[in-house]
This record gives sequence, structure tokens and C-alpha cells, in this order.
Amino acid sequence: MDAEPLEICLEDHDLGHGLREDARAGLAATPKWLPPKWFYDARGSELFEEITRLPEYYPTRAERAVLAERAGQIAELTGAKTLIELGSGSSEKTRLLLDAFTRRRGLGTFVPLDVSVSALRDSTERIAADYPGLRVRGIVGDFTRHLDRLPAGGRRLVVFLGGTIGNLLPAERAGFLAAMRAALEPGDWLLVGTDLVKDPAVIVPAYDDAAGVTAEFNRNVLRVLNRELGADFDPAAFSHVALWDPEQEWIEMRLRAERPVRVRVLDLDVEFAVGEELRTEVSAKFRPERIAAELGAAGFAAEQFWTDAAGLFGVTLARAD
Ligand code: AVJ
Repeated sequence: MDAEPLEICLEDHDLGHGLREDARAGLAATPKWLPPKWFYDARGSELFEEITRLPEYYPTRAERAVLAERAGQIAELTGAKTLIELGSGSSEKTRLLLDAFTRRRGLGTFVPLDVSVSALRDSTERIAADYPGLRVRGIVGDFTRHLDRLPAGGRRLVVFLGGTIGNLLPAERAGFLAAMRAALEPGDWLLVGTDLVKDPAVIVPAYDDAAGVTAEFNRNVLRVLNRELGADFDPAAFSHVALWDPEQEWIEMRLRAERPVRVRVLDLDVEFAVGEELRTEVSAKFRPERIAAELGAAGFAAEQFWTDAAGLFGVTLARAD
């Protein structure tokens, strides 16, 4: 079957509006910050795909290993009729699940949701071509805002992979999980990938690779601001910072001004002193007990928790109670 036309919950102007609001709030704040979703224009989505292939960036490989080992079990336990993927990007690892569901039969519909139109257009077309008989309905949307647009009925499995849930701050995460639960019926399933707490000597290089791809990915958000909001950032004036916060157990990515910077963004005059930083991403790392507790607080029962052989990355299968 051909992929159905994308369902658009987020038009370019909504994206522009959100970016405007976030830039106004974040660039006027002390310290300055921007939400990580703005990395993912077409170029940012490509850079992220490149990151997933870096030797230092272990999460993608570790999660793929778990899915390769457990996909059959996931298909069997959930018996899903509809597979929904949040923040789907290329849906590359999700193919392991689609393969398992195809062998088992019974999966009728795949619904990837992503903010990136370009990534979604590519992935839906490729998946529709590779899985004949599967209905593929892409949704252009924001997983923090459009959970009410997910298809109802049938037995649903929602997958949220890559550790992207770690981009949410703790309060946002609680809100997201509660909204996720409210969008589901008892007996539906949630599969969440989480990067795990480990030696920072392993984590930090994953966010500060030798080839500088993550640095380019980080600076890309400044190009997005330039293009979408007519800002005049010189990305070369900013260096990439990846910092482990041992209290919060998360990585922060920041952009540090290497010289005094003055930029015009919308109606704002934004000044950076030398060394001043803009926080662009939090990527939280998890302990298994915390994952189960947070899921439990939102009305999910964590039924399975799997890791790769080295214990780098966790995948939790939870049932809506
Ligand atoms: C796509 C959010 C899972 O947090 O590891 C990769 C994004 N940032 N390198 C992550 C990212 C820097 C990634 N997620």
C-alpha cells in the first residue's frame, strides 16, 4: 500500500509560532535556553542520523540490540493491531518491530509521529514500500501536544525510542506520561527506550564526538533561528559544550559564546558575554527503579525491562492499567 498523505497537526506556521515563542522566552531568560525540538529541520534530522552511526554514540546500537533480541516477544506479548511511534525520525530501528509483527500477522496500521516533515515523508514512503499490506499513516506533530490525535481503538502499542523521553525535564516527563496514559485504554501498551546512568566517561564522548558531528548538530539550531526568524547568529562564534550533571544525572548540551555576541532575533536584541552559554538540550539518563516508578505514577505497569548485554540502554514494556 502507498503511504497515506501525512496528517498535518503542525503547519509550518505553527512550528514558526512555537519557535518564536520559545526563542522569545528562552533567549530573554537567564541562563539562556532553547528546547531541543528545534534541532530537527531537514539538516538537523540528517545530522542526527549521522550521530547514530558515530563510534562514540552507543545508545542507537545498544537499543537496536535489545529490539533485535526482543522484537518477537514484544509482538507476542502485546498482540498489537496498531503500532504508533512518537518522535519517529527515520523509524530505522522500528523496522525490527515491524518485521516481528509481520511474521506474527495481525498488525494493520503503523502511525509514526514526528515534527520533521522531511524525515516523516521519507520514512513513510520507504516503510509503505517495504511492508506491503501495512497501512502507514504519518502524523506531523509534537508528541508533547498532539497525543489526542492518535488513532483510537484496536490494541495499540505506542513506542517512544532512542531515549528521547530524556529530553523532557522531570515535571514535563510526568505530564507527558500522564497525557500518554489518558490517550490510551487499559490493555494498550507503551514501549519506552531509556539511556541508563553509567560512567560519565562513556556518556560524555557520546555527546562530544571526535569528528565534531554533535557540535554541528548543536550549532544547527542557530541556523534554524537564522532561517526561520531572520536572526543573524554566526554559528562559528559558538563552541559546543557537553556537560554531565551528576546531581540530575543528565547531559546538558550548550553553545558557548567564544567572543561577545550581539544578535537581533525578532524584536529582541540578545547579548552574549564571552563564555556565556545557551542551553540547547537536556538528555536525562535513568536508573531502572526510577523508570518503573515514573511509569507507575502515571498509571502504567512496567511488565518487562530489558537491556543490551553491556547494560548501557534500557527498554521497558509497560501496560496501561
Ligand atoms: C534523539 C533525544 C535521543 O538525547 O541522545 C544526540 C539527541 N543529542 N546527540 C539524545 C542527541 C545529542 C538524542 N535523542
